[in-house]
Amino acid sequence: MKTKIVTVIGARPQIIKSSAISRAIRNKYHDKLEEVIVHTGQHYDDNMSQVFFVELNIPSPKYNLKIGSASHAVQTAEMMKGLEDVFKKEQPQAVILYGDTNSTLAGATVASKMDIPVVHVESGLRSYNKAMPEEINRIVSDHLSTLLFTPTELGVANLKKEGFNLENNAPYNIDNPKVHYCGDVMYDNSLHFAELAMKKETVLTDYNLVEGTFILCTLHRPANTDSPERLANILEALVHISTKGKEVIVPLHPRTRKFINETLDKKLLDEIENTDTIKLIDPVSFLNITALEQKCAFIITDSGGLQKEAYFFQKPSIILRAETEWMEIVANGNATLVDADKQRIIEAAYTYLNGVEMEFPNFYGNGKAAEFICDQLIALA
Ligand code: UD1
Repeated sequence: MKTKIVTVIGARPQIIKSSAISRAIRNKYHDKLEEVIVHTGQHYDDNMSQVFFVELNIPSPKYNLKIGSASHAVQTAEMMKGLEDVFKKEQPQAVILYGDTNSTLAGATVASKMDIPVVHVESGLRSYNKAMPEEINRIVSDHLSTLLFTPTELGVANLKKEGFNLENNAPYNIDNPKVHYCGDVMYDNSLHFAELAMKKETVLTDYNLVEGTFILCTLHRPANTDSPERLANILEALVHISTKGKEVIVPLHPRTRKFINETLDKKLLDEIENTDTIKLIDPVSFLNITALEQKCAFIITDSGGLQKEAYFFQKPSIILRAETEWMEIVANGNATLVDADKQRIIEAAYTYLNGVEMEFPNFYGNGKAAEFICDQLIALA
């Protein structure tokens, strides 16, 4: 008998993460696992959603709840209503959730109350900063899960601190969950798509970028985008760093674009728009971002995903936050936490521009996290 799983995705990073398990099912587990995909519609612009289904070959969602943007409560509540209907109809053996978004929280709350085992991929990560909505989503989702797959050793240690029993070999359920360290499905993806990205990329040529010289920057955390002061500090630092031959390319999340247009000082905005050393562009596809990551000098970001992908491709990163869930790369000297401090961003950038010797030990598994997870899912049947 096939194990039937419902996969809940909604935001850009989850769509990308889910492709690793969908690929493993297609290639190796199609006679053992049946996957039904639900898209909550949290991200809805084509370049935040549809583009990834096409280029990563993800099966079309059977359901799209089309929830879109709203306050946290309204967005999560609408998702919960829609997901309850889907779970009732599909009666899956498990629900798979990724990461820490409102889509994850909605899925975990509904499935656990319907007595459907929750499988949380990318569990155990903590920033220890509950001002981040993602931290709340992570904690709740982990504590409602039956199977927890952590991408790092640190994730396992964090769960242990919260009372998870790591030696649990009894039959597992929500009261007796099972924690597995399996590596990062995003490492699977970066390895899988690295070469194809270089073959298919258009972004380097489109923007006249020279390998090894430019800086890739992304910015979307509400803590940075919604504070005019922090947003201005970061952009001023980029203006300071960028020169001809050291261009900064910034694929902009729609949230960031909105705040730049609405709140940024007009003089600074003009300065950015009139220079060709800072390139503010629309969000790019996964293959294009993967190409940029492989060919840049280093990365400046507040995204959890980008700092790690920098590491996968042996690039340093400057993290525009006070803390990170991926502390191992900071502790190992591959990334620097600078918050939104203009001076610290500039100093870190000069350090990396001058070149620093660093090692990149393997923190994120063997590139087969998705297969490991599928093996555990089969056992649920
Ligand atoms: C969400 C996740 C965050 C993740 C991020 C990745 C939560 C709480 N946050 O943040 O963890 O890192 O996705 O991108 O779930 N918008 C569009 N088009 C879109 C999507 C969003 O214009 O396709 C704009 C809207 O103005 C919206 C804003 O972006 O209000 C925020 O979108 P939302 O999904 O609420 O959160 P993200 O900031 O994307």
